[in-house]
Amino acid sequence: MIGRALRHHVESFLACALPRVARFLPERTIRGGDDTPYLTKYTLMNLGKKVGRVHLHLFHRGDEDRELHDHPFDGISLVLVGGYVEERLVGEPLPLPLHGADREGRLVVRKLSPGSVNVIRTSTFHRVEIPPGAVCWTLFVTGPIRRSWGFLGEEGFVPHRIFSARKERARSEGFDKGFDQAKSDQA
Ligand SMILES: [Fe+2]
Repeated sequence: MIGRALRHHVESFLACALPRVARFLPERTIRGGDDTPYLTKYTLMNLGKKVGRVHLHLFHRGDEDRELHDHPFDGISLVLVGGYVEERLVGEPLPLPLHGADREGRLVVRKLSPGSVNVIRTSTFHRVEIPPGAVCWTLFVTGPIRRSWGFLGEEGFVPHRIFSARKERARSEGFDKGFDQAKSDQA
């Protein structure tokens, strides 16, 4: 009981303090395919690609892609404010189409709240969900960059640049179709 009350107070304090502190830190915001903010990274310490970094992460929303992704480094995430639901692959990562029924039994779904620690290795495939309108602050410590990263698509691992290019192409084709449809509806 006391523990829960204390956690609540600490979270409330951090929810006020972190935006104020973050204003003084170098930042970079990653945007989604629809150009809305996805994640803002505030750098607390940057020892370079060969050593690692410490960031404050402000999630504006969860991962937009249904496909799981991995990371180029090992990292530890400490949830400070808010939280997220993580889907994480268990068992053999490749080759594995992860759609519909194939996902069942292969994923661990768990909720991470303030105080939760999430260890994310280069071999981890996951994605996170955040409720609409909620925000989430985490402290994210990463080790050296070890490899490229990507997504688990229908055919297995897809490097992130190829995956993003495909998504972008599909989005613009969908937009063109919608535009053509709207034109024919008006005619
Ligand atoms: Fe991730």
